[in-house]
Amino acid sequence: MASDEVYRASTYAPVNIAVIKYWGKRDPKLNLPTNSSLSVTLSQDDLRTHTTASCSSSTPHDSLILNGHDQDISGARTQACLHDLRQHRQQLESSDPSLPKLSTMKLKLVSENNFPTAAGLASSAAGFAALVRAIADLYALPLTPTQLSRIARQGSGSACRSLMGGYVAWEKGTAADGSDSVAYEVAPAHHWLEMRALILVASAAKKDVSSTAGMQQTVASSSLFEKRVDEVVPKRMKAMEKAVQERDFEAFARLSMKDSNNFHACCLDTDPPIFYMNDTSRCAVRLCEAINSHHETQSGKAGAICAYTFDAGPNAVVYYLADNEQAVAGLFKGILQGKEGWEGKRGGSVKEKEDRGVLEGMEVAVEGLKKGVSRIILTGVGDGPQKTEEHLC
Ligand code: DP6
Repeated sequence: MASDEVYRASTYAPVNIAVIKYWGKRDPKLNLPTNSSLSVTLSQDDLRTHTTASCSSSTPHDSLILNGHDQDISGARTQACLHDLRQHRQQLESSDPSLPKLSTMKLKLVSENNFPTAAGLASSAAGFAALVRAIADLYALPLTPTQLSRIARQGSGSACRSLMGGYVAWEKGTAADGSDSVAYEVAPAHHWLEMRALILVASAAKKDVSSTAGMQQTVASSSLFEKRVDEVVPKRMKAMEKAVQERDFEAFARLSMKDSNNFHACCLDTDPPIFYMNDTSRCAVRLCEAINSHHETQSGKAGAICAYTFDAGPNAVVYYLADNEQAVAGLFKGILQGKEGWEGKRGGSVKEKEDRGVLEGMEVAVEGLKKGVSRIILTGVGDGPQKTEEHLC
């Protein structure tokens, strides 16, 4: 008689925000990128996906419920992840016949995000990382995060970088089957724990052009993009890894800002052009530039203290180090006081800074931010997926 036992495993998985951007696929089916990328994993205190994977012999069909809504999981990407995970489980079951045959059972997946889904906040990255990690735990697969990243990559490219904490690179790889297109840890979170990220949410609406569609339009039509892939990114990846290893914020900041701008220039060079940044985004750029040049004038030496970066949407992510909390987050708080989000654990301790020196001549940017930013999320670098006994089903 078949047992009705329900097997389950749950995990929390983080969001990551790239500082060297992934944009473009050389193989859309296997989801292989045209270039390597590097990201910072953000703290799960503020942004995370919580997923429970469960199965039993009476589970009727594979299903995924996200934030209470049924999701379509018939797409090739989700199916590729489920197929690979089941195959790994099947191998375990054939080498040890005493194991329950979980690979033959249907999966019930329940997920919850603690942030707005599809607002350009890398929700697909945390979502697929959580899905893969939870099923791998359910199946007790003896796979490393790098091995799991190969599976998660097929769900969403950026997801492969959310299987690890700290500073994570996704090596584009060269093998036609994608076997070497995996993520690895450049440095753990504690290596550079002072890294903070201030997210200015400029829109909580769904994106205009999805990353998946947008990046392939860029590959097909932008000539700037060829240079990005062949020359710009390979050099920057090396320099960024070095900046992280050496905890060199000046290099980290310059490279982040240049790479974000280069990525958005390629979007603009796409036919038809893609606009992810908006007026609010540009106000954030102006303010970061002003903070950096004010700091340089005051300290008498070159050195950025904050760095902006933008993904496929208008939200700004501003990286800075804890020592400069008042100079960066304090200044934004002075402008954006009263906006939702400052009341959080980290935001509450930031003192509003009314620095007339920095803000001189910045009236347009200040007004633009006041008008366009709906909420802020103040967070920092964090760890990789965490197992939990809190089950959602
Ligand atoms: C701009 O990972 O969402 O955020 O692989 O098609 O799912 P798919 O794309 P996705 O693209 C993310 C692009 C980016 C840059 C980055 O995260 O590196």
